[in-house]
Amino acid sequence: MTKHDVLSLLRAAAAPVSGEQMSKALGVSRAAVHKAVGQLRGEGYTIEAATNRGYRLLAEPDRLSGARIGQALAEHPWRERMVVLQSVDSTNNYAKNLAAAGAPEGTCVIAERQTAGRGRRGRSFVSEEGGLYFSCILRPRAAPQELLHLTALTAVAVSDAIEAVTGMQPQIKWPNDPVLSGKKVCGILTELSVVAESNEAEYVVAGIGINCNQLGFPPELSGIATSLRAETGKPVDRSALAAALARSLERMGRALFEEKAAWIARFRERCVTVGKDVVILRGDTSSPAYAAGVGPDAELLVVYPDGTSGAVSSGEVSVRGMYGYAE
Ligand code: BTN
Repeated sequence: MTKHDVLSLLRAAAAPVSGEQMSKALGVSRAAVHKAVGQLRGEGYTIEAATNRGYRLLAEPDRLSGARIGQALAEHPWRERMVVLQSVDSTNNYAKNLAAAGAPEGTCVIAERQTAGRGRRGRSFVSEEGGLYFSCILRPRAAPQELLHLTALTAVAVSDAIEAVTGMQPQIKWPNDPVLSGKKVCGILTELSVVAESNEAEYVVAGIGINCNQLGFPPELSGIATSLRAETGKPVDRSALAAALARSLERMGRALFEEKAAWIARFRERCVTVGKDVVILRGDTSSPAYAAGVGPDAELLVVYPDGTSGAVSSGEVSVRGMYGYAE
């Protein structure tokens, strides 16, 4: 007996079906049925257990669906540009190859799982099923030094999409980690290719990994990562979230220069780092500082213990009391 047999019975049942009925039908113990129900719940099936009546299948876990994403993007200019994959090494790699081959702005590569997801600073990014792995090609007409704020604005766009689908309002840990309850819910890796002759961006790939329906994480992540499902108590429709991300990134692309100040203001409002003691990590050195604000290009404005001030544009900043804090 597998959990699939239990699932088939639950799917076929017009009314709640008891553990006793299932154990008889399948020729296994009630404990085995109970165990299978637990496994199915762990995979995202919503199964109600009503006393004296039995089990009822209320909802199935969502599978990423190109058709559903397309439906949710009706009339949207990016609608035909969604590439949905079961498994890929890294959606950023795949999107970079498409971009280099001339794919238009708004091409989004969306995967159920990645086998070699990449994070910032050469780290790997755990990319198991239940998450949403999404990379979007943007083609801003600008030099790299005019795009310093892009990664921060991407975090705002992602937070908007999460809010639209779940009602939760993520904060942002500088420079671009959306967080819920002080834990990381999403990682963002933006990669830029430059045309050497003109020093203009050829393309940007905004890579976004959102913890959606995971209920647990590997031990090294459990204290620092959360998922939308863990926060809301409900499974997330990842196809709806993918469509919301595409819409939000398209808005961001249009706002990148003309509404820059307004979007930076929204970044500031969400930025959980401001007003906190931080540690700035550069190479092997770490400097304590106070995060006083966010500048016009989304740089972190800091004050050092000796009273001098500075601006941090890149690198790692740990926030005292938050995940990843380095003493
Ligand atoms: C980080 O927090 O270090 C950034 C993680 C970025 C992960 C996303 S998942 C989709 C895209 N594909 C990748 O290989 N990385 C990004």
